[in-house]
Amino acid sequence: MDFSKQPDTQSTGLAKPAIFARDVRKAYRMAAQNVEALRGVDLQIATGRQVAIVGKSGAGKSTLLHILGTLDRPSSGSLVLSGTDVSNLPDQVVSQFRNATVGFVFQMNNLLNEFTAQENVMLPGLIAGATKGAVAERAFKLLESVGLGHRTDHRPGELSGGEQQRVAIARALLMAPPILLADEPTGNLDQKTSYAIQELLMQICVENNVTMLLVTHDPDLADRMPYRVVMEDGRVIEGGLVS
Ligand SMILES: Nc1ncnc2c1ncn2[C@@H]1O[C@H](COP(=O)(O)OP(=O)(O)OP(=O)(O)O)[C@@H](O)[C@H]1O
Ligand SMILES: [Mg+2]
Repeated sequence: MDFSKQPDTQSTGLAKPAIFARDVRKAYRMAAQNVEALRGVDLQIATGRQVAIVGKSGAGKSTLLHILGTLDRPSSGSLVLSGTDVSNLPDQVVSQFRNATVGFVFQMNNLLNEFTAQENVMLPGLIAGATKGAVAERAFKLLESVGLGHRTDHRPGELSGGEQQRVAIARALLMAPPILLADEPTGNLDQKTSYAIQELLMQICVENNVTMLLVTHDPDLADRMPYRVVMEDGRVIEGGLVS
């Protein structure tokens, strides 16, 4: 794997990478010790690929996803997302960039209980300053596309676990982000629902040329994804170049 140069579509002939990380490190300073959660991650994922991220508990998968999603900053290393070097962007610019570029689906879906499904899905659009009517319509269509057209007025507490994850997926897609990051999105679900959610995510990504990284502990689920990246001890040890 040669990460010595920035990727260049014309000279490499590879599809433009959606994600390019080089020697990304993350250390947490604790009272008693320094925890090195990431110890030099190299990763290059071409646009439109869907990749499973696997590895033992504590390998650094969630830390990496947070950093790739610009929710957290690396201690060192470089990170280019959809052609933008995000390593040194000011906080305000990073949050705008994130809202437009990255959709997140987590195991704990973080839906807001006081809002309906449709209102939850609308939130990223309202944050970005879009008009309410247009956002409401798009949110409704997205909920229909994930099979929840009949549940738009339900609050999260009035939905099943799988339905809640569908709402979270619709919310992640509201801004039509080119990158989707999913951290054990089916971790709380039974196998049948879990496969249905994974298939839905895959279908959406393939149709819209979305690049997706999906962390999972389930080897069967990982097998259903086109590519696999293996992490161990804060590094990518296998599959880090997806072209
Ligand atoms: N905020 C933090 N402060 C200190 N250490 C942390 C913090 N977050 C994570 N770590 C440590 O970093 C390492 C990687 O954690 P991470 O959550 O990325 O693992 P993971 O691969 O997602 O594990 P799991 O499969 O259990 O979710 C772990 O050893 C963890 O204890
Ligand atoms: Mg994790």
